[in-house]
Amino acid sequence: MALAVRPLTPALGAEVAGIDLRRATEQQVAEIKSLWSRYALLLFRGQALDEDDLVAYSRRFGDLEIHVRREFLSPHHPEILYVSNIKGPDGKPIGILSQNEVGWHYDQIYLPRPAVGSFLVAAQLPPDGGETWFSDMRAAYDALPADLKRRIEGRKAVQSYEAFNRAYSVPTSTEQKKRTPDIEHPLVRTHPITGRKALYICPGMTTAIVGLPEAESRAVLEELFAWTTRDEFVYRHRWTMGDGIMWDNACTMHRREPFDQRHHRLMKRTTILPPAHLAIPR
Ligand code: SIN
Repeated sequence: MALAVRPLTPALGAEVAGIDLRRATEQQVAEIKSLWSRYALLLFRGQALDEDDLVAYSRRFGDLEIHVRREFLSPHHPEILYVSNIKGPDGKPIGILSQNEVGWHYDQIYLPRPAVGSFLVAAQLPPDGGETWFSDMRAAYDALPADLKRRIEGRKAVQSYEAFNRAYSVPTSTEQKKRTPDIEHPLVRTHPITGRKALYICPGMTTAIVGLPEAESRAVLEELFAWTTRDEFVYRHRWTMGDGIMWDNACTMHRREPFDQRHHRLMKRTTILPPAHLAIPR
């Protein structure tokens, strides 16, 4: 049976119905890949994925990253990262990004070979679900005023996991710091599969434009950040149980709204690596 597809916004995202991801056929996976490239974000509702299912389904799209924050990985599947405010028996959070707002970011943009896909599923939610927002960085690039496009052409930007952790997370260990030094990537990324260009920066992790004086670099970044978070590029998702969202992490950044900390929230995420020959952002 063909999948039922409903666009979520004019620029970004589609809800895909008529499928149980645990039983997706080869043909359906091929169709999902093509929809994923087109819409950059796919929402599936009413799913019942346990951790085995989540890993098995995600693997159909590529190898899975083991996140550097090992303390927040599932004890059963290291391919799954927990995002949660729940504390374990030792009193420590079982997940990363446990509280408050999380600023706009690309997952793992600070790595030499960043993941190209992320798949996040809701495992436990506060009564109002909480919200995650996504921005379409292809549409933002396409619509960018010509003078700003010219100013950033051929430039690289510095991506910093440290900066993100200072603002929104907890510090990394010495070993984790060594594995995540600041890194430069092209400021405009050409998608490894579709060939479309997207802005490859984010307020949470991008600290400078290489080769520009500090004040100018900050001013251009602020202009770009304000541009990329305009309503016309953004899809805001309010979670309900059974939701799973796959987004294209080569052209979509996201953030999370603060949520009511009197309630537990647990999200489970896999991140999908690109094939080796497409792995370095260009
Ligand atoms: C994240 O990956 O930034 C967190 C998303 C969320 O908690 O909804």
